[in-house]
Amino acid sequence: MLNPSSLYGVGNIGSSGFGLYVHVPFCVKKCSYCAFNVSHNGLHLQGDYFKALKAEVLHYLTNGPFELHGAGFDTIYFGGGTPSLVDPLLIADFLASTPHADDAEVSIEVNPESVRKELFASYVDSGITRVSIGVQSFDDKVLQYYGRTHDMAGAERAIELAVRTEGLAVGIDLVYGSDVEDDKSWSKTVSKATSLAKGISHVSAYALGIEQRTKLHYDKAQSQSEDILSERYLMASEAFEGCGLQNYEISNWARPDGRSRHNLNYWRWGDYLGVGLGAHSHFGRSRWWNGPSLKGYLADVQIKGTGFLAGEELTDTQVEAERLMLALRIQGGLSEKELRSWVSRVDGEDLLGLFEVADGRASLKPRGRLVADGVFRALSI
Ligand SMILES: C[S@@+](CC[C@H](N)C(=O)[O-])C[C@H]1O[C@@H](n2cnc3c(N)ncnc32)[C@H](O)[C@@H]1O
Ligand code: SF4
Repeated sequence: MLNPSSLYGVGNIGSSGFGLYVHVPFCVKKCSYCAFNVSHNGLHLQGDYFKALKAEVLHYLTNGPFELHGAGFDTIYFGGGTPSLVDPLLIADFLASTPHADDAEVSIEVNPESVRKELFASYVDSGITRVSIGVQSFDDKVLQYYGRTHDMAGAERAIELAVRTEGLAVGIDLVYGSDVEDDKSWSKTVSKATSLAKGISHVSAYALGIEQRTKLHYDKAQSQSEDILSERYLMASEAFEGCGLQNYEISNWARPDGRSRHNLNYWRWGDYLGVGLGAHSHFGRSRWWNGPSLKGYLADVQIKGTGFLAGEELTDTQVEAERLMLALRIQGGLSEKELRSWVSRVDGEDLLGLFEVADGRASLKPRGRLVADGVFRALSI
């Protein structure tokens, strides 16, 4: 069986950041579209779970190549699941024992229904610098269809409390394209987001995916047609840009100082450690992932020090293709020279019209972003 120490490649030390992803699997209930690794009856195990997370970080920092990164993590991201369900003292204790740079970006995903008045202040006290609030929609009909446990008023309340908290950058997540959403509903969500834009520094907007083993999949739900999804995307992108939130990745808009450094590190092929059940890690040309079960994870960490399940080492060709795919997603992801070299390899000069170049860096134009996967396929044949 593979184990992480047989997988380590050369790493990306010095060339990019070093991130820590912490998967927090607890949720009140499962949303109709969600295929993430979550547990809706395991919250009583949160103390054991955080003990295991700390042990897993320590294991990798003392036995793995990550110790070469020196000053500790540049970014830490608590994702889920619903990290905001967890006792904030456990988050604070985890951060206090995890080495990170003085100017580290520390983010947490927050669900509106778990927000209480003191929550954000306690996050800032423990070193958290960013929250990402799972709003999904500002239309109660859509929220019900998604099986969310908050309504529009609850989302607004959570955002208001977050933006009033000093020292905290605030982002929101939206999902569009369900079959109960019409143009009016999506416009309402976008205008609400733009009216809040003064206080928020980041918006993510994802087209709804109907994933296997979700309620929507069992119900044979459909999302909107490609044409409608494209219109909704372009409309939202223009509105977000109009209030100072620039697109910096296909589905993400931010103020220049509000970009997610953690996610940028993924898209720039940086190194990261993922801890917790189902978490993925990447170092150099290697990547590996943990097993999906909560009880299995707790037992594995106790016995082996990690939740490691399996991994792989990529070939040069695979690395090159992955880097291209990620670079196409972000603004300025390729130098003009790199773009011209990719294009000339496939005689694809006609693709150049989908790009714009500024300061020697190439980015897909808004309409080009809609066909990023096709551009990748055309360039990498
Ligand atoms: C897995 S959730 C975790 C955060 C938090 N529990 C929440 O629900 O907001 C992270 C984000 O992924 C996005 N997401 C999850 N499943 C999706 C799907 N099937 N289609 C599109 N976006 C999805 C949502 O925007 C969500 O906010
Ligand atoms: S979308 Fe968020 S709250 Fe809903 S089940 Fe998935 S992780 Fe949990």
